Amino acid sequence: MNKPLDNIQESVAFLRTKTSSKPAIAIILGSGLGPFADKLLDRVEVPTSAIPHYPASTVVGHSGRLVFGRMHGREVMAVSGRVHYYEGYSMDQVSYAVRLMPAMSVRSLIITNAAGGVNPTFRPGDLMLITSHVNFMFANPLRGPNDESAGPRFPDLEEDYDREYLDLAEQIAVERGIRTQRGVYAAGVGPSYETRAEVRLFRFLKADAVGMSTVPEVLVARHRGIRVLGISCITNLGTGLSAHRLSHEEVMETAQRVKASFEELIGEVIRRMPVT
Ligand code: HPA
Repeated sequence: MNKPLDNIQESVAFLRTKTSSKPAIAIILGSGLGPFADKLLDRVEVPTSAIPHYPASTVVGHSGRLVFGRMHGREVMAVSGRVHYYEGYSMDQVSYAVRLMPAMSVRSLIITNAAGGVNPTFRPGDLMLITSHVNFMFANPLRGPNDESAGPRFPDLEEDYDREYLDLAEQIAVERGIRTQRGVYAAGVGPSYETRAEVRLFRFLKADAVGMSTVPEVLVARHRGIRVLGISCITNLGTGLSAHRLSHEEVMETAQRVKASFEELIGEVIRRMPVT
């Protein structure tokens, strides 16, 4: 039987036949942000379907891609077309791209998503800088045998989302007149949106936004000591908080509407983020 570590090594060996890039920065692109990867210069694109052991996409014709290239002179690895837990993937599969990152020399991760606002002061279109998260997926990708060379058995999450990156992103947003919030991201399994009662519960728990991704990837990244900046696009208000019914169309429309400022913020973060 193939061991998970062997799988990672085989995936990385394959990627190394495609690129010699050593990106210190990776970005996982959430809903609507996939085309950001096309802005990288000297791109090498690898369809994830070609990578040994990479989880196969469930959506026909919508295979994901890893894109290696440069932005503002810095080497970047972009993950476009993430796979979600609600599609039926395991936690291991959902976090597979992050498991590849240390061997590709990634030290810092920008992770983005679409989320519903449960903080009543939030407006659709706000960008929320994630300060911490609540794991309501009730599953953890670090469960199972621990690879000690990757990280500790019991990683502490005292420093989950990097304070320095948060401050930098906020400063850039102020300079550029981009409206941001800070807040706690709660992740549920999905794919159904929340009930009104669940949105009230999340608010009671002091969450500010709710979504269906990000937490598994962040857990693996922090286990590996990768510094994380998380940004949610608040695409809608949580169930029961707005006058209309929430729909996937609204989520995609809002993500499209704020795409330009979201991309501007991320681009500037990539230019200025300290990498250690
Ligand atoms: N809930 C969960 N996930 C989401 C939402 C939401 O309201 N909006 C976008 N992703």
